[in-house]
Amino acid sequence: MDVIKVTDVTKSFKVFKERSSTLKDRIIFRRKNKFESFLALDNVSLTIQKGETVGLIGRNGSGKSTLLKLLTGILYPDAGDINMTGKVSSLLELGAGFHPDFTGRENIFMNAAILGLSKKQIKSKLNDIIKFSELQEYIENPVRSYSSGMYMRLAFSVAIMVEPDILLIDEVLAVGDAAFQQKCMEQLMKLKSKGTTIVFVSHDLGAMEKLCDRVVWINKSKIVADGKPKRMIDKYLTFLGDEENKRLIREEEESTHVVVNEDKAVENVNSEQQINVESQEISENIEYETVDRWGNRQIEIVDVMFTDENNNKKIGFMSGDYMKVIMKYKINQKVDSPIFGLGIHTIDHINCYGTNTFIDQYSLGEINEHHRGEISFNIASLDLVSNTYLVTAAVHDINGNQYDYHDKRFSFKVSSTVNDVGIAKLKHFWKDEKNQEGL
Ligand SMILES: Nc1ncnc2c1ncn2[C@@H]1O[C@H](COP(=O)(O)OP(=O)(O)OP(=O)(O)O)[C@@H](O)[C@H]1O
Ligand SMILES: [Mg+2]
Repeated sequence: MDVIKVTDVTKSFKVFKERSSTLKDRIIFRRKNKFESFLALDNVSLTIQKGETVGLIGRNGSGKSTLLKLLTGILYPDAGDINMTGKVSSLLELGAGFHPDFTGRENIFMNAAILGLSKKQIKSKLNDIIKFSELQEYIENPVRSYSSGMYMRLAFSVAIMVEPDILLIDEVLAVGDAAFQQKCMEQLMKLKSKGTTIVFVSHDLGAMEKLCDRVVWINKSKIVADGKPKRMIDKYLTFLGDEENKRLIREEEESTHVVVNEDKAVENVNSEQQINVESQEISENIEYETVDRWGNRQIEIVDVMFTDENNNKKIGFMSGDYMKVIMKYKINQKVDSPIFGLGIHTIDHINCYGTNTFIDQYSLGEINEHHRGEISFNIASLDLVSNTYLVTAAVHDINGNQYDYHDKRFSFKVSSTVNDVGIAKLKHFWKDEKNQEGL
C-alpha cells in the first residue's frame, strides 16, 4: 500500500536578488523586479510503501529538506500532488515546533497535541517520553536554556512516543552524543520492525546503509537515482569523488606551488641558479637545493600527474581504483641507467610504500641527451584507506646520487565507502574458526 505519494511536485522559492551597490543603480533599477524564482524541487515524483524506510541523500542545497517539509505540510507545492496516509510525525530543523519560553514538560504537551494526541493520551505517555529523553533534571526549565543536543532529545522522544504511522527525520540526529545517537538508531530499528514508514535525511551514509531499505538520491532539485542503499551510496560517492576531482584539478591549475611547470621547473631556486636553468647551461654536479627539491638536474622530473588507466587526470580516487602516476622527464645530460623512484606517504609523513625501477628490475629504453619522455607507475588496485597522501618522485643514479628529488611535493586523495583505518588496506577475510576440526 502506498502511504506517501508525491506526483509531479514542483516547488520554487522567491529569493532576493543581489542588491545594486550604488545609489545610482538603486534609483535606475528601482522599479525592476527585486525577486527571482529559485526552483528547489523540479517535477519530483516518488511513491513510498507502508513499512518502507527510505533515505534521501544529496549535496547541500539539493532539495531534501524542502521535500520533507512538503511531506509534513509545512510547505505547499506550486504544482503537483502530495498524498499522505496515516499519522505523520516529523523531526525537522532543531527546535521547530517548540516554544522557547515554555518548559520541556509544557512543550511535550503542546507538541504531542499538535501531533493529534488527546490530553489523556499524552499524560499516559509523559513519563516514557521524559525517561527516553534522559532530561528529567531539566524538564521544568524553559527550552531556550537547552543545548542543541537536549532540544533534539526532547523532539525525538516526542516524535517516536506518539507512535506515528509515518516518521520524517531531517538530519537532526547528528547533534546527539554518541550514546544517544545509538539509542535513537535502536529505536528507529524498533519502529521499522513494527511497520512504521520512515523517511530519513542524513549525510551519515553509514547510518543510511544500516537503516534504509531504499535510498533516493536528489541532485539539483531532481531525483536522479532510486534503489538499493549500497548501490545508490556507491553511485553518490563516485559522483562526489568526480566533483571533488574537478574542484581539485581547477584549484591545482590555479595554484603555482605544487605543479611543476615544465618551463620553470625550478621556480623555487634562487635567481642565480634559475638563470642557469633557463639558459639550459646546466653544469655537472650543481645542486639546486630547496626545502622540498634537490639534485643536479642532469635529468629533471618536469611534471608528475595522477590519472586513471586511460590517462585521464585525477586527484581524488576511490580505494581500489586503478591509479597511474605519470612522471614527465627531460634529459639535460646523458647519463647511464637512471633509476626512477616513487614514495607514497600519509599527510603526517608516514611512509606507506616506496620502490624504484632498480628494485623492480625495470630497465628504461635508450635515453638520449635533450630527450623528453614519460614513465608511469601503475597501481592496479589502490589499496589505501581514506586519506590524503603525499608523493615523492625522484630520479637518481645507481649510487643514490640525485638528479632530481621532489620530496612529498604532490598529493592525491583516497575516499572509501568503508571506515577502516590504518595505512594499507590489507587483503583479508573473516572466518568463524570455532567449528574447525581439532579445536
Ligand atoms: N525558505 C526558503 N527561501 C528561499 N530559498 C530556500 C528556502 N528553503 C530552501 N531554499 C533553497 O532551496 C534549495 C534546497 O534547499 P534544501 O533545504 O531543500 O536543501 P537540502 O538538500 O536539505 O540541503 P542540506 O543538505 O544543506 O540540508 C537551496 O538552494 C535553498 O537555498
Ligand atoms: Mg536540509
